[in-house]
Amino acid sequence: MSTLAILGCLWGDEAKAKVVDYLGASADVVVRFQGGANAGHTIVVEGRKYVFHSVPAGILYPNCNCVIGSGVVVDPFRLRDEMRALQDSGINFEGRLFIDERASMVLPLHQELDQLQEKRLGEAKIGTTGRGIGPAYADRVSRRALRLIDLAHPEWQGMRLQALYEHHQIQLEDLEAKLADLQDVYEFLKPYLAQTDELLWDWYLQDKHILFEGAQGTLLDLVYGSYPYVTSSQTISGSISVGTGLPPRCINKIIGVYKAYGTRVGEGPFPTEIEGETGDLIRKQGNEYGATTGRPRRVGWFDAVAAVYTARLNGLDGMALTLLDVLGGIGELKICTGYWLEGKRVKGFLSHHLDLARVQPEYLTLPGWDVDISSCTSLVRLPKAAKDYLDAVQDLVGTQIELVSVGPDRKQTIVIK
Ligand code: GDP
Ligand code: IMO
Ligand code: MG
Repeated sequence: MSTLAILGCLWGDEAKAKVVDYLGASADVVVRFQGGANAGHTIVVEGRKYVFHSVPAGILYPNCNCVIGSGVVVDPFRLRDEMRALQDSGINFEGRLFIDERASMVLPLHQELDQLQEKRLGEAKIGTTGRGIGPAYADRVSRRALRLIDLAHPEWQGMRLQALYEHHQIQLEDLEAKLADLQDVYEFLKPYLAQTDELLWDWYLQDKHILFEGAQGTLLDLVYGSYPYVTSSQTISGSISVGTGLPPRCINKIIGVYKAYGTRVGEGPFPTEIEGETGDLIRKQGNEYGATTGRPRRVGWFDAVAAVYTARLNGLDGMALTLLDVLGGIGELKICTGYWLEGKRVKGFLSHHLDLARVQPEYLTLPGWDVDISSCTSLVRLPKAAKDYLDAVQDLVGTQIELVSVGPDRKQTIVIK
């Protein structure tokens, strides 16, 4: 049996979708298990760009089944838009897209609350994607949420919707119209709703190749990330079982996706952040603007302290190192090998964001390279400096690099193992 998890191991946007797409060529099933439409997953195939928010990236392969697991929070309206856009671009997913009926819904109210909360926080805002993710997960754990299956029970749904607005002390205007919109979207989504844990279990028993597509990244994990500057779901490998209903022993292999440098969008500590010219150059070369919100991403050096932490939390079997091409022409490159706080070298990643914001990174400096590596498809064709950079990352993280990405296209990939 072969199942493989592909997880973001930094602050999100590590090019998970590119790796899912590359390795997904042989997958029978691709599954999302957490997060929601805060994700922006980009795939480029022969010059054509696709951005996914809730639909798994495997949908581009016509024979691949795709599952949105119960751990995802689903905005039914956004999902319908995303599905219609896919249909318009000629992608047919009839009979091969399955959405867990127990997934909680993100409603327009949650988006309103998300934006309101950010405004209230002022300077201390999280810098969320504004997609209603935090409020939706909060309602879920407080047992107030509406789930997709509630759409099949109109009376109950009406009662729950009223209770939800009352709880949040937001005036519910035109309940009937809201219920009609929900019924409308239900008619569209109904053919895709299922108990996906059962489907996954059957496929697992049939030896199907199942791929789990992580969203966000471990440093944004609700518990293990830089709280409170995190997302509201758990992004680590332990979350796969909870968000799919497949027992933990069904996860055979875990690949962590790391960018060759660091990026972060939103607020919060970023120990290796680079400001000024070099940062601007990396942002420009890497086209570092959010796929969901279009915000410029903050950039930083590769942080091996954080990388070791996330490799351990996820139990990685291997790494994929992406956007290596972006580092060409930058000059000398740095990798963070340790944190110093108040004159002492600290052990590992820190639990408090205030401490993380104060650490002084210790750096290893490596020579850069000036040639364009975006058409290199084998390790031997890389310049020595790029190979040395890969070796340094691999040694410091203590995990084998199995795949290197040197450009957004499917073809711009070097397989090492
Ligand atoms: P995800 O959320 O982890 O799937 O990543 P995003 O799609 O948000 O961001 C990754 C961005 O980098 C996308 O625009 C990709 O098309 C692009 N990309 C992926 N791999 C590479 C690469 O190796 N080199 C370059 N230059 N861009 C890449
Ligand atoms: P993918 O899957 C990068 C960040 C937001 C903010 C914090 C909380 O594309 O890697 P939220 O809207 O989740 O409440 O925002 O998390 N964030 C992401 N950053 N990539 C993502 O997804 C992200 N999803 C959320 O910018 O800092
Ligand atoms: Mg993204």
